[in-house]
Amino acid sequence: MAGKKIEETLTVSLGERSYPIYIGKGILGEVGAKLRELRCGTSAAVVTNNVVAPLYLGKVVRSLRDHGFETTTIEIPDGEEHKNLAWLTFVYDRLVDARLERNSPILALGGGVVGDLAGFAAATFLRGVPFVQLPTTLVAQVDASVGGKTGVNHPEGKNLIGAFYQPRFVLVDVRTLKTLPKREFTAGLAEVVKYGVILDPDLFALVEERLPALQALDEDLLVQVVRTCCAIKALVVAEDERESGFRAVLNFGHTVGHAVESLTEYRRYLHGEAVAIGMAFAARFSAARGLCKQETAERVVRLLKRAHLPVTIPKEIRGKPLALAVETDKKIRGGKIRFVALEDIGRTRFLEVDPEEIGEFSQRSD
Ligand code: NAD
Ligand code: GLY
Repeated sequence: MAGKKIEETLTVSLGERSYPIYIGKGILGEVGAKLRELRCGTSAAVVTNNVVAPLYLGKVVRSLRDHGFETTTIEIPDGEEHKNLAWLTFVYDRLVDARLERNSPILALGGGVVGDLAGFAAATFLRGVPFVQLPTTLVAQVDASVGGKTGVNHPEGKNLIGAFYQPRFVLVDVRTLKTLPKREFTAGLAEVVKYGVILDPDLFALVEERLPALQALDEDLLVQVVRTCCAIKALVVAEDERESGFRAVLNFGHTVGHAVESLTEYRRYLHGEAVAIGMAFAARFSAARGLCKQETAERVVRLLKRAHLPVTIPKEIRGKPLALAVETDKKIRGGKIRFVALEDIGRTRFLEVDPEEIGEFSQRSD
C-alpha cells in the first residue's frame, strides 16, 4: 500500500512554501505516489549522476512511470568539479529538449552536488518549476536537501552562484546509505555531530552512546538520527530562511572548515572532514576564551575522533595562510568574522573575531 513504509513525516514550516520531509527504510519507490499528490502535470525530469544512476535511478523511474509520469533522466558526471555553470547548461539543454513545462517537476537523486545543481536548475528554469529532493548521502539527508540553498560553484569560489529555492518535498530513504562509501558516511557524521553540538545535547549523547550501531548502519537508528537532524534543520530554517541571523548557527565549524578546504584545494578533505577540523578548532578556541569548559571541548573532540574524523589543522596551513583564507571567506563583515563559538553542548553564541586571532590560535591547537 502506498505510504506504508514512510515512518516519519516532518514539516518545514514556511507558510505557503511549507513542505514535508518523508523518512523511512526502503521508501524510494514511494516517490511516484507522493509526486502524484502534488498534482503537478504528467512529465518529470530526474537529475542524477553516473554513480547513483545504476544504483537507484531504475527504482525511481519505475515508480514515476507507474504513477503516470513521462520521465526524462539527466545524468551528470560524479564529483564536486561538475557542480558548475557548464553542467548546469547541460541540464537546461536536456530540459528544453524534453519540452518540460512550468508545472513539470525536477527531481534530484543523489548527494549534495546533484541536489544543489538540480535545485538551482529548478529555481531558474522557466522562472521556477516544482522541485523534489531524493537525497542519497548522509550529508544530503541531514543537511543539503533541507532548507532551500541551491547553487553551483564559480572558479573563484564555492557556491558563489545560487538561489534560495525550497523543494516541494524531501524523501529520505536511509537504505540508500548502504551503498555509500564509508568515508562519505563518516563525513556525514560530522554534520550529525554538529547538530548535537549546536542545539541538541540529547542527540550528541545518542551519537556518543550508539556510534558503533550508527556506523554499522542500524536502520532504525538511522531513521531516528536523520529525523532528529532534519527536525533541527527544519526549525532553524523556519526561523530564518535566508540566513539573516540565526541560521548562521549551522555554520559552526565552517569558518575554519571552509578555509581548510580551500587551502588544501578541495582535494585532501571531504567537506564533512574539513568541518570536523573546524568544529574541533571552534571548541578548543571557545575553551581557550573561557566561553566553555575545557572538558566540553574535549568531549566534542573525543567524539569526532571516535567517529574517525580529523581534528587537527595541517601544520603547513596554520597561522598566516589560515588567517588569510578566513579573511577572504564571503561571510566576513567589517574585517571581522562572525564566529560560532561554543558555550556548552547544545548551546552556542556568535562572536566577532579577527581572522588574525584565528591564525594565531591555529598555531597551538592540537
Ligand atoms: P556528493 O554529492 O559529491 O556525494 C558524495 C559521493 O557519494 C559522490 O561520489 C556520489 O556520487 C556518491 N553517492 C551518492 N549517493 C550514493 C549512494 N547512495 N551510494 C553510493 N554512492 C553514492 O557529496 P555530498 O557530501 O552529498 O554533498 C556535498 C555537496 O553538498 C557540496 O557541493 C556542498 O556544497 C553541498 N552542500 C549543500 C548544502 C545546502 O544546504 N544546500 C549543505 C551541505 C552541503
Ligand atoms: N548547510 C547550511 C545551511 O543550510 O544553512
